[in-house]
Amino acid sequence: MAENFYWRKKWDRVLEWNFREPKVEWFKGAKLNITENCIDRHLEELGEKPAIIWEPNNPEERTRVVTYSRLNKRVCQFAQVLINNGVKKGDRVCIYMGMVPELAYAVLGCARIGAIHSVIFGGFSAQSIADRLYDAQAEYIVTCDGAYRGGKDIPLKSIIDDALIGNRLVKKVIVYTRTRTPVSMLKGRDVWWEDEMDYALSQIERNNIVTLPAVEMDADDPLFILYTSGSTGKPKGVVHTCGGYMVWTGYTFVNVFQYKPGEVHFCTADIGWITGHSYIVYGPLSMGATSVMFEGIPTWPDAGRFWDIVNKYKVNILYTAPTAIRSLMSYGLDPLRDKDLSSLKVLGTVGEPINEEAWHWYDREVGKGSSPIVDTWWQTETGGVLISNLAGVTPAKPSWATLPMPGVQPVLVDERGEEVTEPDEEGMLKGNLCIKAPWPGIIRTTYGDHERCRKNYFATYENYYFTGDGALKDAQGNFRITGRVDDVLNVSGHRIGTAEVENAINMHTNVVESAVVGFPHQIKGQGIYAFVITEKNTHEDDRAKNDILETVARIIGPIAKPDKIQFVSGLPKTRSGKIMRRILRKIAEGETGNLGDTSTLLDPGIVDEIKNKAL
Ligand code: WT7
Repeated sequence: MAENFYWRKKWDRVLEWNFREPKVEWFKGAKLNITENCIDRHLEELGEKPAIIWEPNNPEERTRVVTYSRLNKRVCQFAQVLINNGVKKGDRVCIYMGMVPELAYAVLGCARIGAIHSVIFGGFSAQSIADRLYDAQAEYIVTCDGAYRGGKDIPLKSIIDDALIGNRLVKKVIVYTRTRTPVSMLKGRDVWWEDEMDYALSQIERNNIVTLPAVEMDADDPLFILYTSGSTGKPKGVVHTCGGYMVWTGYTFVNVFQYKPGEVHFCTADIGWITGHSYIVYGPLSMGATSVMFEGIPTWPDAGRFWDIVNKYKVNILYTAPTAIRSLMSYGLDPLRDKDLSSLKVLGTVGEPINEEAWHWYDREVGKGSSPIVDTWWQTETGGVLISNLAGVTPAKPSWATLPMPGVQPVLVDERGEEVTEPDEEGMLKGNLCIKAPWPGIIRTTYGDHERCRKNYFATYENYYFTGDGALKDAQGNFRITGRVDDVLNVSGHRIGTAEVENAINMHTNVVESAVVGFPHQIKGQGIYAFVITEKNTHEDDRAKNDILETVARIIGPIAKPDKIQFVSGLPKTRSGKIMRRILRKIAEGETGNLGDTSTLLDPGIVDEIKNKAL
């Protein structure tokens, strides 16, 4: 598969690995730059073909079509801007922008010169940014004055300014103008994207070069860091490297979606998450595809927005999340009326298990029963898809991710790490999902703390990569992912650690302790349910709840706000002080009857109290 890419120098060895340390080296000895694969190699044939089609938040605003040759020009220009501002190979550049083409230029501009990008989703707070900046020891930031999302303007630069209070490391902040929101620009630190780009262009023109030479990278040099939540309070900086990540995203893009040259691919994710990295930017562009990038949200100005975009750009492949499908379902069929979706050939879903109802609606109302749906299971840590049917090639099975990609070796293990071999009454194997051997897109380390990577993913079960998910396997070898088995929630396809939310709640004045669990939510998949003990009795006080929500929004971001807060006088704990989440989860799920064995609890009475007042 790697032969399908452009390498400055090919590898000496394909793979060296052990999961003990862990050490995984793909394409050792190879030299490349991923942007030469995403841009340069397409210029001759596809120069005038669209690489990115950008759909603005406001449908009245002008569309932007970025051809491959334009993409080349802008990426090289921005790479020059980075150089002019002192950025060097290996430096960390934090990118906090809305979904504008300049975000793609920024990402690729970093890759062009070997700088490590760390994109942070626009829904994270100043505090979260500050923590990530510090963890990555980032010295450069690229941001926007603001971002449009539906009816809202998000003041990105102002949030960055808050994140930078007390930060002594960041040297430069490059600000792209999108919303014309007034921003403070600090002399010597903050510079305008537009001015910098103009100057870079004059330099490039003066030197009479069209293309800025790409920096040669080793296959296992880091390409980017992307932070993701785990079961501890602190997000981890997942590190992906140039060669393996490139091969895995390109290979999976073409095979899962059965992409054919000339097709238009629309992935509705935000580039702030791994899905956007892999299937808006790197995967499609490395294969010379046309990638639609959408600034807005599916329900603004109305719930027909996706269908308008599909029709407008004759989208062939639509890749979205179950939460978006369920949300659109709730608007009924009116928004779909008179929308021409006949260009669609393949549909995809990702982010959480898709319920059968949503699957069938997607199939019937969007695919008109004639577009295969690929249910793609993967993770930030896997770089690209690991388990999925291949569109029109292998059969779909509603709410099943089905078969591993060729080259992937999944295995189900029990608590002790033994491979599960005994099927249950229905003929299913059931266990915790692990992967036996590396694929090229596997996480290489957690930034700045390799031991953390080992502990998190490679220590639970010896010699396996542990995904944190539970799964079923049928007699034909199909996998059905049943959800996380650790303390990680999946809210609207976004990963949120319960410990992180608890930490944030506990920072609120008057809060003594809290426990956070998930509960089934119609649209979001999982909602956040917080049980909170306060110092003084504020029980019926809605203001106290709102204040806690505001605290969580400040500490993590609006995406982590609990849907329900219940004040309690105690939490169900074992004699050793451990919170029995199993019981809280049942209560949050609305279970009123049997809560299982509560005899080991310090104070079994508390369970009734909590249950009787459950929301
Ligand atoms: C977790 C990873 C992969 C990009 C988006 C999320 C869940 C993901 C599926 C699917 C069932 C899925 C898993 C996984 N998940 N795709 N098709 N079926 N569950 O990336 O934030 O790293 O979250 O999302 O629980 O572990 P992420």
